Amino acid sequence: MQKIIIDCGPGIDDALAIFLALASCEDIEVLGLTCVKGNVPVEKTYLNAQRICAAAGRLDIPVLRGIPRPILAQADLMATVHGKDGLGDIGLSVPGHFPETGTTAVDFILEQVEKHPGDVVLCAIGPMTNVAVALLFDPLLGQKLHSVAFMGGAAYCAGNMNDHAEFNFMVDPHAAEIVLQSGARLVMFGLDVTHQTRIEDSLLSGLRQNGNACSDLAARMLSAYALGDRHLHDPCVIAWLIDPTLFSGVQSEVRVVTEAGPDFGRSLARPDPQGNCRVITGVDQDRLVSLLLSRLAELP
Ligand code: BDR
Repeated sequence: MQKIIIDCGPGIDDALAIFLALASCEDIEVLGLTCVKGNVPVEKTYLNAQRICAAAGRLDIPVLRGIPRPILAQADLMATVHGKDGLGDIGLSVPGHFPETGTTAVDFILEQVEKHPGDVVLCAIGPMTNVAVALLFDPLLGQKLHSVAFMGGAAYCAGNMNDHAEFNFMVDPHAAEIVLQSGARLVMFGLDVTHQTRIEDSLLSGLRQNGNACSDLAARMLSAYALGDRHLHDPCVIAWLIDPTLFSGVQSEVRVVTEAGPDFGRSLARPDPQGNCRVITGVDQDRLVSLLLSRLAELP
């Protein structure tokens, strides 16, 4: 059983990743969701994380508010494909009462890692601001974590913001660079692998056929999302924890450009057996979709 914290900025594909994790209790224990400014501002990502947990009947999952802006980059970069509310504007209900945790995202990460040394996988599926600040608070955090598995960057392929940069890295490249230099065991799910995934009509119809409320919600959100982005980015991180044989990769040295200019947010990578990061470069799309369909069917 792998203990995880999902650091997220929901976001429709973030929501799917969270559903996948919550549906996989036999493989994964979700310690909490830490929210960051991601696809929408942090007030919305915090609320959206609560909405997703409530839809899955999991009001017991701690949801923590995180840092509202990137470390140094401008704060106005948002993704439009997730709709105004960040979850496709499908009217997903807001829980009337969600337990207050009384702590912040960064403190929660630090506390949980102290409590479970060596055991926590930090799954970062948005800009890595919270993760970077936690690493700055505790310089040994990288060694105390089991690993950081993140969606971000484009190591050996083109970007989705421009020719070079991927969204999560471009929102907060300084945070990404702090994580890349942290000495933590790193697994990178960049566009190299996520652009090999597809939101096919068969996934949407399969979700509808599942017949449960969460699958139906996922189908409605993904239908809106697929109009602008047809890739299953964030669920890859969780799917890898459940079944690593779905993926292949290459050990690499990865950095990110933090200097202003046309390369801002660009990943710089080269294969290196001693490198800082395992870059995931291959996925079995059919088995990934089967996993999503079968696991989401388990939710309410
Ligand atoms: C990443 O950007 C976001 O819009 C998605 O949620 C994903 O994390 C893909 O570049």
